Amino acid sequence: IPVDDFDLVIFGGTGDLARRKILPGLYRRFVAGQMPAEARIIGAARSELDDEGYRQDVRDALKEFLAKADQSEEQIAAFLSRLHYVSIDARGEDGWKELNQLMRDGVVRAFYFSVAPALFGDLAERLHHHKIAGRDSRIVVEKPFGRDLESAKALNATLAEHFDETQIYRIDHYLGKETVQNLMVVRFANVLFEPLWNAQYVDHIQITVAETVGVGGRGSYYDKSGAMRDMVQNHLMQLLCLIAMEPPSRFDPDAVRDEKLKVIRALDPVDPADIVRGQYEAKGKANSYIDDVENDESRTESFIAMKLHVSNWRWAGTPFYIRTGKRLRARQSEIAVVFKDAPHSIFGAQAGRHRNILTIRLQPNDGMKLGVTIKEPGPGGMRLIDVPLDMTFADALGSDGEAVPEAYERLIMDVVRGNQTLFMRGDEVEAAWAWTDPIINGWQDRDDRPHEYEPGTAGPEEAAMLMHRENRRWRDIK
Ligand code: BG6
Repeated sequence: IPVDDFDLVIFGGTGDLARRKILPGLYRRFVAGQMPAEARIIGAARSELDDEGYRQDVRDALKEFLAKADQSEEQIAAFLSRLHYVSIDARGEDGWKELNQLMRDGVVRAFYFSVAPALFGDLAERLHHHKIAGRDSRIVVEKPFGRDLESAKALNATLAEHFDETQIYRIDHYLGKETVQNLMVVRFANVLFEPLWNAQYVDHIQITVAETVGVGGRGSYYDKSGAMRDMVQNHLMQLLCLIAMEPPSRFDPDAVRDEKLKVIRALDPVDPADIVRGQYEAKGKANSYIDDVENDESRTESFIAMKLHVSNWRWAGTPFYIRTGKRLRARQSEIAVVFKDAPHSIFGAQAGRHRNILTIRLQPNDGMKLGVTIKEPGPGGMRLIDVPLDMTFADALGSDGEAVPEAYERLIMDVVRGNQTLFMRGDEVEAAWAWTDPIINGWQDRDDRPHEYEPGTAGPEEAAMLMHRENRRWRDIK
């Protein structure tokens, strides 16, 4: 179903994110028939290019970043004809008149700020001054949204000078992932799970976002951020919110975001003994973290594991263990809800410990599995085994997984539709920083050093201890 007609301006239209994610995503929506016949995409950046030059650059990007199966010469040519380019100076006057002339009236106007946050204010100011953006326009901003509470507040205040909250779309691409949205449907459209979704029945919850990549070419950004700012404050926090939140009364943007905000506000401060930070070592030809960021003194973490408490009626006493890291054994993102043991085992001690675990997998092979205990078939007596009820979406839906839109495609289309449900509200981002800041400041005050870990593992040993000491264990990364 096509969305409303739109003009989408991408500031930073020649940048890495635009080439890698935004434009390939838009192309896929174009091929899927979701882009109205007249809709246009306008790249805006500093480089001196004309429309043809930009189209050539985008053609190269599509060839590089689209799956081969998605590439069709004919479709690419048709898509490129929707593209325009304006060379613009975010801090000066060049290009703004040209941009204004390009924009059509009576269509959705969206402006994607795919640029450094330091330029948000300049762009907002000029869009307003040149009357290019009005009451109905939408702006899209990317993470990092600030690096602490103070800078996030300043960014929010800058944007608020020219735009209402209803016009601001703060992207966290994890919210665009298929499974993340499905999590809400599974929780709130089935009677099966919600009655058990609390401290009485859930022993603990694990959230893992493991990556195999290192920090490679992004060293200078990453070393100032670390896993806490780069992943926990946003992506892992969003997953935690969706798992832990109360049922919203409606699936509407503010009802959902109100509930998420309450979760963040209910997070306890974290005891330093419940945090393990790590940095990867060198292995074979691969660099160590220190080499990658070219900073011998770096104390920044490329891995973090933590135990958190959501202090409210539903979750009191049920810990949430979260971890994320670079250069781990596998690329694997999942949430595991580990239920308590049955209150009494009628099958005796030899039956062993069996518990139900619901795993919600974001990538790869998105889907869910519910571990159920059954009798081992055969004449061997009452032996119990755990088998998965497998709900891998690609199998269940008979698709090869390709048809599922990627996070960015879905989110950009939501901007055009004017649906903010999957975008972070300003107060959510601030609350997340308010929780993160004291933790990071504590490391600085105590001069805390990360543990080293071997690439290709599940992170430092100390992270395993975080669980072992409480008789629990992380799920395998494999
Ligand atoms: C980004 C982080 O937001 O998310 C990266 O800045 C990280 O460091 C990436 O690699 C992970 O995203 P995905 O979709 O590949 O899990």
